[in-house]
Amino acid sequence: MKKISVSELRIGDKVVKLDKGWFETGLLTHKFTVKDTAVIQKLKDNGVSDVFIEKDDLEAAVIDIFQGKPEEIIEHKKEIISKNYINLGEVSNARTLYTESVKIVHSVLGDIRSGKMFNENAVKSVASNIAEITLKNRGVMASMTKLKYHDNYTFLHSMNVSIFASSLAAHLGMNKDEIELIAQAGLLHDAGKMLVPIEILNKPGKLTEEEFKIMKNHVILGYEYLVKQGLPKKMLNLVLQHHERYDGSGYPQGLKDEQISVEGKIGAVVDIYDAITSDRCYHKGIEPPAALKLMFRWTDSHINKKIFEFFVMNVGIYPVGSLVLLDTNELAVVGRMNTVRPTEPSVLVFMDKVGRRIPVQMVDLSKNILHKKKILGPVNPENINIPDEVYFS
Ligand SMILES: [Fe+2]
Repeated sequence: MKKISVSELRIGDKVVKLDKGWFETGLLTHKFTVKDTAVIQKLKDNGVSDVFIEKDDLEAAVIDIFQGKPEEIIEHKKEIISKNYINLGEVSNARTLYTESVKIVHSVLGDIRSGKMFNENAVKSVASNIAEITLKNRGVMASMTKLKYHDNYTFLHSMNVSIFASSLAAHLGMNKDEIELIAQAGLLHDAGKMLVPIEILNKPGKLTEEEFKIMKNHVILGYEYLVKQGLPKKMLNLVLQHHERYDGSGYPQGLKDEQISVEGKIGAVVDIYDAITSDRCYHKGIEPPAALKLMFRWTDSHINKKIFEFFVMNVGIYPVGSLVLLDTNELAVVGRMNTVRPTEPSVLVFMDKVGRRIPVQMVDLSKNILHKKKILGPVNPENINIPDEVYFS
């Protein structure tokens, strides 16, 4: 990485960082390839005087050239997946952090329901842990959202939105303080649901028109509650705008894309993703690739396309031959794709949960309904000795 002044920039240079924070400019991304002089002018107009450039920054290049369908994005994703590798040494820390954090979210939201002030420091410390782990390694916290926890949906959803939003913020180039604010906002984005009557919140069937109106009001209720606590505007943006939609069809204000803040756009994408991929009492969550395809169709109506593309690059896929960690703590290599259920390929397990080599065993993750194993995420193969027989079995 090299620091140069904006006037030294040339077409083709890959900018990876600006001398200003994410919130200090009107630019959507701080990572891009300079394609024409208009970009240089735009930087100057935004008060940027110095930039950091990097030659052959694959991620910047991929992000910049990409303008395609989810399938193509997923293809490109293979090249940048290394950013999302799970660091094995951090898995147990992340697991403890996730479980402990869900408990804190549970108690914070419980306080809001009972009319008390919530513990702001508790929220801050959860957010700061999420931001710290996310900055070190984006995949590890995101993999926790795939574990099954027996807790109320709203608490898990708040935690997952916080994790996905932080990871997306990191991917967009935000700094640690900014990511922490996004993480806090994610934890509190549905605080207003705690002020909606519990019979409506937990109603298993379809809501009546009147009930839906009350439910939609959770945005305003949450916003007003958090305004009273004097939270920063950037956080409130995510809370207030996570149900706004690209074409103005959202609520509560019916804002259009250009009126929605970046935080609001991040909130919308990750909120929709977690909601449609999670199991609820009245429907089973859909698989991530199917969810991404569905969301891609909504980029003309509901979601900002650019933010969505960044998000797609940020969630995992498992190509054949890649090393993965299972929820049993076993290590395996993806052996065969499952085209109907892409997140449940056949894998070749070669290491048990305590790190001992075992005879290679092919496991079809879509079978074995009783003891179904799941992939938590990709692992960096650099320091792992993958036995040759994996590739010949
Ligand atoms: Fe919401």
